[in-house]
Amino acid sequence: TTETRRKTVVYMDGCFDTMHYGHANALRQARACGDVLLVGVVNDAEIRRCKGPPVCDEVERLEMVRACKWVDDVIEDVPYEVTDEFTDELFEKHGVDYVVHGDDPCLLPDGTDAYAYPKRIGKYKEIKRTEGVSTTDIVGRLLRMGARAAGEEVKEEEKEATFCTTSSRIAQFGTTRAIPADAKVVYVHGAFDVFNRGHIDLLRRAKTLGDFVLVGVHADAEVRSRRGADHPVLNEKERALSVLACRYADEVVIGAPMKITHDLLTTFNVAVVVAEDEDEYLIGGEDVNALAMKRGVFRRVDREHDCSVLTVAKRIMENRAEF
Ligand code: CTP
Repeated sequence: TTETRRKTVVYMDGCFDTMHYGHANALRQARACGDVLLVGVVNDAEIRRCKGPPVCDEVERLEMVRACKWVDDVIEDVPYEVTDEFTDELFEKHGVDYVVHGDDPCLLPDGTDAYAYPKRIGKYKEIKRTEGVSTTDIVGRLLRMGARAAGEEVKEEEKEATFCTTSSRIAQFGTTRAIPADAKVVYVHGAFDVFNRGHIDLLRRAKTLGDFVLVGVHADAEVRSRRGADHPVLNEKERALSVLACRYADEVVIGAPMKITHDLLTTFNVAVVVAEDEDEYLIGGEDVNALAMKRGVFRRVDREHDCSVLTVAKRIMENRAEF
């Protein structure tokens, strides 16, 4: 019977540095290969040894992976170069049925296929890599942004990635569940550019304030007018995908207005509007959350970690020789 059927455990590993919606899409597809998804995350020392320093440290990378809604469990400190011994440990100790990886070649230092062993014994499944998004591309954009901010002349990148968001991708990431009529809807809004730990903190806190977290992902034009011509780093559809991959977000408004409006509060039956302590968004001298304040549905939460697209960009600039 289905009740007694053992669950199929699938495993995927990686670095998940500055985790993006390409990684999330890999985890989504891996999860669909079974019932339980176990994710192995490589530690900082291993990444440094094999390919240079990561932008996000292991504490952040682990948190990003754990916050992804398709991930059931995580194994820390897995080797960068997959050995047969480690793969056996996955099968024997962790009950893994299939090892899953993207369809890009993955070679060991000796030039052999890293997944030859699970392939040989029929315990390997492959998923499609998501083109048009990568850590390297995001780091490149942040580097150029930092260099321009420092007054340097920066050549436009010719081969900047272009990701094309389809309606089916948004459907795969999102939910078809309508907002339940009796749900306490929490609305939280922002740019959510280069999704990071600070965003996860905010969404997690928003979730504790109600039953349904609706996230307003600000329109590209609004972010640009507020933060400058180099922003946003990722467009509103890409930013929305990263938010949807987070387990604390239930639904997104893609290209949301900065200013809370009557229409927005009524259409979605919003019970609480949440913003972080430090955020003061003024448009024409008026706080963007003014209407929510006036109606008594506004809540501020304090910031747990100071992490934003700007802190990530600063970190990259400080170590730019290494990237
Ligand atoms: N992955 C993917 N699509 C991308 C990037 C990664 O499907 N655009 C998949 C990889 O195939 C792998 C998993 O995500 O199975 C974890 O990838 P990771 O080891 O973090 O790294 P990279 O492949 O190096 O990703 P990136 O180039 O973005 O650093």
